[in-house]
Amino acid sequence: MPYPKVTVVGAGQVGATAAFLLVSKGLADVVLLDVAEGLPQGKSLDMMHSRSVELFSPTVVGTNDYADTQGSDIVVVTAGLPRKPGMSRDDLLAANAGIVRSVVAGAVAASPGALILCVTNPLDVMTYLAWKESGLPTQRVFGMGGVLDSARFAYAIAEETNKPMGSIQAVVCGAHGDAMVPMPRHSTVEGKSLVDVVDQSRVEALCERTIRGGAEVVALLKTGSAYYAPAASVVRMVQAVLGDTKESLSSCVYLSGEYGIRDVYVSVPAQLGREGVVSVTEMDLNAEEIDALRESAATIAASIEALGLRG
Ligand code: APR
Repeated sequence: MPYPKVTVVGAGQVGATAAFLLVSKGLADVVLLDVAEGLPQGKSLDMMHSRSVELFSPTVVGTNDYADTQGSDIVVVTAGLPRKPGMSRDDLLAANAGIVRSVVAGAVAASPGALILCVTNPLDVMTYLAWKESGLPTQRVFGMGGVLDSARFAYAIAEETNKPMGSIQAVVCGAHGDAMVPMPRHSTVEGKSLVDVVDQSRVEALCERTIRGGAEVVALLKTGSAYYAPAASVVRMVQAVLGDTKESLSSCVYLSGEYGIRDVYVSVPAQLGREGVVSVTEMDLNAEEIDALRESAATIAASIEALGLRG
C-alpha cells in the first residue's frame, strides 16, 4: 500500500518539524514546499539522511513547484510570517492573508481532492480565508488551534497536579489567541473534572498560563514563535484524518448555528476522519461557557469583517 501524500506548505520551523514528524512516524509521504529556493530541498535532504538512522519508510521531497504536490490527500498550510516579540497575532493579519490566498490557490489547483489544514496565524481568520479561497465545502477545510491550546492547558494541569499526562484530558475552545476559552469544567484529571480537583484560584491561574503559553515561548525565543508543540498538534490532527479515527479533537471548524454561532471558523471539539470534519461534537456548556465562546467567536468575526471576507 502506498503511503498517503501530505503536502506541507512552508518549510520554516513549524512546517519542517511537522514534515519530519510525519515521515519519522511512518504516517505519510511528504512534499515540503516553500517560496525560498533550496530551503525545502535542503531540509528534505537532511531528513532523508536520517532515514537509515531512524529507519522510517516514507519519503520527503522538497520543492518550490506546486506540480510536485499533485494528488495530495492533505495540504497543511504553515506558510507565512511568524509572530515576533511584541507583535500580536492580529498584526500578522494583512501580511499573511496574501500568502494564504496564493498558497491555497496553488495547492487546490494541483490537488482538488485534498483536505486543507491551516496553521498560519491569525489562525481562525486564515482558516476562514483558506476556505473561501479554496471553493471547497467547509468539511474539507479546518485549522489547528484548539489541539495546541488544549495541549498547553494539559501541560499546565500536569505541572499543577503532578499527575501523568495520560490521565489528563484538557479542552480549550474559541479563538486561537488571547480570546481563547479554556474549559476547566470539561477538562479532567483521572476522570474527575478539574474544578473538583484544584481550587478555583488555581484553576484561574492555570487558564491564564494557558492563554499566555504562546507568548511565553515567543518572549523566551526572542526570534520566531513556538514550533514543536504546534507541529506535534498538526501531526495529531493528520493522524486522526488519515486513520479515519473520527476522534473528537478541538479543531478550528466552520460553525453554522452550533452554540448559536454562525459563519465563523473557531475551535470546538469536532470529529475528524478521512472526509475531514465529520461532525461538531456539541458540548454541554453552561450559560457562562456559551457566553465566553460566543464572545471569543465575535472577536474572530470582527477580523473576518475587517478583511471583507464575508458575503
Ligand atoms: N509560499 C510558500 N511558502 C511561503 C510563502 C508562500 N507564499 N510565504 C512565506 N513562506 C514560507 C517562508 O519562506 C518560511 O520558510 O513560510 C515559512 C514560514 O516559516 P517560519 O518563518 O519559520 O514560520 P513558522 O515558525 O514555521 O510559523 C509559520 O505558523 O504558527 C504559525 O504564526 C505562525 O503563521 C506562522 C506559521
